[in-house]
Amino acid sequence: MSLLIKGGEIVTADSRAHADIYVENDTVSRIGPDLQAPPGTEVIDATGKFVFPGFIDPHVHIHLPFMATFAKDTHANASVAALIGGTTTFIEMVCPSRKDDALEGYSIWKQKAEGNSACDYAFHMAVTRWDANTPEQLTEIVSDGTASFKIFLSYKNFFGVSDEELFRTLTLAAELGVITTAHCENAELVGQLQQQLLAAGKTGPEWHEPSRPEAVEAEGTTRFATFLDQTGATGYVVHLSCGPALRAAVEAKMRGVKLHVESVLPHFLLDKTYAERAGVEGMKHVMSPPLRDKRNQALLWNALRTGLIDTVGTDHCPFDTAQKLLGADDFTQIPNGIPGIEDRVNLMYTYGVRRGGLDLHRFVDALSTRPAKLFGLFPRKGTIAVGCDADLVVYDTNYRGTISAETHHSLNDYSGFEGFAIEGRPSVVTVRGKVQVRDGQFVGEPGRGRLLRRETQGDYKR
Ligand code: URP
Ligand code: ZN
Ligand code: ZN
Repeated sequence: MSLLIKGGEIVTADSRAHADIYVENDTVSRIGPDLQAPPGTEVIDATGKFVFPGFIDPHVHIHLPFMATFAKDTHANASVAALIGGTTTFIEMVCPSRKDDALEGYSIWKQKAEGNSACDYAFHMAVTRWDANTPEQLTEIVSDGTASFKIFLSYKNFFGVSDEELFRTLTLAAELGVITTAHCENAELVGQLQQQLLAAGKTGPEWHEPSRPEAVEAEGTTRFATFLDQTGATGYVVHLSCGPALRAAVEAKMRGVKLHVESVLPHFLLDKTYAERAGVEGMKHVMSPPLRDKRNQALLWNALRTGLIDTVGTDHCPFDTAQKLLGADDFTQIPNGIPGIEDRVNLMYTYGVRRGGLDLHRFVDALSTRPAKLFGLFPRKGTIAVGCDADLVVYDTNYRGTISAETHHSLNDYSGFEGFAIEGRPSVVTVRGKVQVRDGQFVGEPGRGRLLRRETQGDYKR
């Protein structure tokens, strides 16, 4: 199988050049001007278009039993949605609950994805309790190539862990050389504030944000950083949403704590007024940490521009209208999450690069290269160079469109970003050299995706 992408402008995190790309089988084998290809080669004309490395979404939920229900998507449809939006690899959170067995959970998630994903994928393993078997189980999971953990400091009694469990997990993570990702909110404060609000008759989705104020997230971030500092582990704050949490993270970075920061698509573009909308419209915009006061968005964009925010994920987590209505009488029962796997690249390109002064290379870095580096996928993924996997996004900056549930590929019956204009979209997307998407249509091989096994601390080795 050979493929020639001709005439495009290749843009990576640190370079930009007009050149052709020749792909043999899964891999980029030549890059240069006016490449010739043998007869039978599939040729793609990328004239006037960017060619980006395949984008990597470092934070998604596909199979997710949570809040008395299950997230809506399957690996088959979510991976197609990802690809149509230019994401060629996602990293999914394996989230067994506190009462479930970690190894069984890991095996369930692997079975759900295997043979069903159209794009490549990896996992972060959530540690949702600590018992005598945990060190051995986690070591086995890491040996299987899942070289990153996830910790929840919120969602008490379900996914959430105690400080003791956090300490033990980070100590093991440091020993094994794996990075630990963390949802940073103080579970106790959230629980107490929720009860106070409900007792005062405040039951609507507009009370979700006041039940998890910015200070609660800042406390979680500070505590996570302190535990990293004391254990020597490397950490990654997921879905950071606000100024106080950002300051806590930056302050820890300045102290030398090995801490990286992710923010997610909803927090750059949506604010708390979305969750204040009447009835189910508000419920559709309930996620945690919550959508914040709009003033935070400028801080997040600035931090992204300057690299204080390392990566941008989606936290794709679709619950449909009927599921959101589980919390019609009590905001604490609204399943938390907003879908976005298809929209991240186009929205960040439109509102970041085109309209917001986000440097094109920083865009590629935050949405592809840095996730690859932090999670042990680089240089196989996250850049375009000879020897890399041929995950390529030919990007049409002349495309104009609007995001809508009518046209998206999530199984969810609404979009969190309904009506947002986009100025650009992928015209061709390849996964290891195979064309999977053309002009918004999936044209490829449904089960092509492979589980990416990662080494501990260091570059991915084949
Ligand atoms: O509201 C959210 N973020 N739902 C998904 C679970 C999580 O906390 O990431
Ligand atoms: Zn979370
Ligand atoms: Zn999440």
